[in-house]
Amino acid sequence: MPHSQPSPQTTSDLLSSAFALRSSICAGINGEILIPGDKSISHRALILGGLAIGTTRVSGLLKGADVMSTLDAMRQLGVDISEADNGDIIIHGVGLHGLTTPDAPLDLGNAGTGVRLLMGVIAGQSITATFTGDSSLSARPMRRVTDPLEEMGAQVSYLPENKAKGLLPVTISGATPVLPADYHSNIASAQIKSAILLAGLNARGITKVTEPHISRDHTEAMLRHFGLTVEQTILEDGRHEVSVAGEGLLRAANIAVPRDPSSAAFAMVAALITPHSHITLPGISMNPQRVGLIATLQEMGGSLVLSNHRIEGGEDVADIEVRSSLLHGIDVPEQRAASMIDEYPILSIAAACASGKTHMVGVSELRVKETDRIAVMADGLRRCGLKIDETDDTMTVFGTNSNGNNSSAHSVISGGVTIASQHDHRIAMSFLSLGMVSKSPIIVEDVSTIATSFPGFAALMNNAGAKIKRQS
Ligand code: S3P
Repeated sequence: MPHSQPSPQTTSDLLSSAFALRSSICAGINGEILIPGDKSISHRALILGGLAIGTTRVSGLLKGADVMSTLDAMRQLGVDISEADNGDIIIHGVGLHGLTTPDAPLDLGNAGTGVRLLMGVIAGQSITATFTGDSSLSARPMRRVTDPLEEMGAQVSYLPENKAKGLLPVTISGATPVLPADYHSNIASAQIKSAILLAGLNARGITKVTEPHISRDHTEAMLRHFGLTVEQTILEDGRHEVSVAGEGLLRAANIAVPRDPSSAAFAMVAALITPHSHITLPGISMNPQRVGLIATLQEMGGSLVLSNHRIEGGEDVADIEVRSSLLHGIDVPEQRAASMIDEYPILSIAAACASGKTHMVGVSELRVKETDRIAVMADGLRRCGLKIDETDDTMTVFGTNSNGNNSSAHSVISGGVTIASQHDHRIAMSFLSLGMVSKSPIIVEDVSTIATSFPGFAALMNNAGAKIKRQS
């Protein structure tokens, strides 16, 4: 089969959207919207495919900038990755000991998942790599991952001035030997958990991670898909414990990446808040650790109907049908936070249009994402005329009861503001969604970041009725 180099579909998107976009009130969001592949699963497919023995073929991989950063890093580590004529990605795995020391630093761009999972991989290999990233990634805390990796025997070196906060760049030399971990994390984080499990693949003995609630378990599922036994237990107090035995064999297995529920979230909320909307979103991942927003929007009165539940490529998927709805505020349960951690920015847009207040608790992790998402959303929403309360780990949005108003004469959300995305794709897409029902357009600057997770967002939404245009 002829193979060519993967040509990230994001390149043109990045070039063409390195400017501002303006979103204006629209008459409805309608039709079928094909959401791109899941970002979390795409990163893991490239990493585990590279560590397996044999050839892994991946269909539906998200060709967004974050995933391309992981793809480039895996190539720098010696893995041969190509693209088939139909767009599938072909990974020639090198096995659990086959990676090689890269010639240059691994630049993971904006990709938090890519950098943290790869830190775990390097910690388990007898090689050394330096990790760098863009300004947003370089401001995010890495010691939550490197501290446990050091306990497993890896050598970790930050610049002296960055050590306390654990900021990139960082150089990691793999542990020899790799010590199995028994790590109790006080954060429900799939990135921390996955980094430790990936390092543990080369440990002699069982590596165990306990987290306060179960976080997305795509790493666990894919390790099983590649032939390993992974134990998962929900303990009596609700904590989640996962363990894997090291020195096993990862056997290549084909992967079909389902469509990303975190990207679908933008289309879902846009359709709910914009009158005269009716969309279908086929084939969205229904991983139980990713569907918190669907439950939340349904509790708020949103018309979201799931159908055609099926297994595709080993993953639960379903079609989602969404109709414009009158939403009301709710208290979002704290234990649901991990299953919708990336969805709070767009939830706060739904909450802004709802009646009553929406109270989000246990969300301090939002402050260490691509940006401080509580502060940036609160600031932008206030500038659009909303009242927002925030504490370290809560956010309360006082709704405007503006459901049903997408005529500029009646809209009560003022808009008319310019929002800096701060290199955060989810901030950018959230405010573009709010522009669909605001009295005056909302302009979002530096929208190139949207291509990290949802290349083609503006075009897909415009095809469905949105009015998102270049701001000249
Ligand atoms: C991810 C885990 C989450 C999420 C991120 C993707 C993953 O981060 O916010 O976008 O793929 O493992 P944490 O694990 O740090 O909560």
